[in-house]
Amino acid sequence: MNTTKKDLWDASLYDNNHAFVSNYGTDLISLLNPKQGERVLDVGCGTGDLANMLHDLHIDVVGIDYSENMIEQAKQKYPHIPFYVADATALTYENEFDCVFSNATLHWIKNPEKAIESIYQSLKLGGRMVVEFGGGGNVQTITDELIKQIKNAGIPFTDEQFPWYFPTIGEYTSLLESKNFQVGYAFHFSRPTKLSGEDGLRNWLEMFSPSIFENVDTVVKNNIFDTVEKNLYEKLYRNGNWYADYKRIRIIALKK
Ligand code: BEZ
Repeated sequence: MNTTKKDLWDASLYDNNHAFVSNYGTDLISLLNPKQGERVLDVGCGTGDLANMLHDLHIDVVGIDYSENMIEQAKQKYPHIPFYVADATALTYENEFDCVFSNATLHWIKNPEKAIESIYQSLKLGGRMVVEFGGGGNVQTITDELIKQIKNAGIPFTDEQFPWYFPTIGEYTSLLESKNFQVGYAFHFSRPTKLSGEDGLRNWLEMFSPSIFENVDTVVKNNIFDTVEKNLYEKLYRNGNWYADYKRIRIIALKK
């Protein structure tokens, strides 16, 4: 891992409050439709839950994640699976995997060309990439309000500071084709996602926006979160739970 970059991922918070990420990922395993003995690379494996489901299906799975904290927790939970800290834009595998699988990770990579090249290199010829991540418009109700309140607090916020990449399906499939993938399936859909309980939105903001607030005083950050909660209550809070406006892209693409 790049040691100059601080690891802002809290693996325990992730496991305790964000199990829905892996729960939705089980659906993606159905799309992957893995065959016994296939060799699968899980890119952005987090704390390893989906990799372990693949292992239980007799898949020869390897998990990688950019976060040391996540990989440490994955190794503790599932010591029988090989997990490594690695950068998805600089993988060193060559023609090794039948499949590259990735759930809720590729939107963190703001250099998608490099990630696609790296995945391509890791796959065997004819191997498949089966991925799901945030597409155009993903969590936009939340991020628009968050950025508005950051700016209202007098904190500058530029496009470069936006930590995510949420492409349209046209943008992403064109990129894949330009890198010699054959796109067999592409689907862009809305999936309002329950963030459990009264603190659901705040937990989500705490978990996923630390890079935005790295240099912001905690009191200022908490005031921003208070205002975001207040302003989004009518739009996103129903029957005791918050619902984030997730929009997902699912892709199956083959290495030509
Ligand atoms: C997502 O899974 O879509 C997501 C998670 C955290 C921040 C932004 C998007």
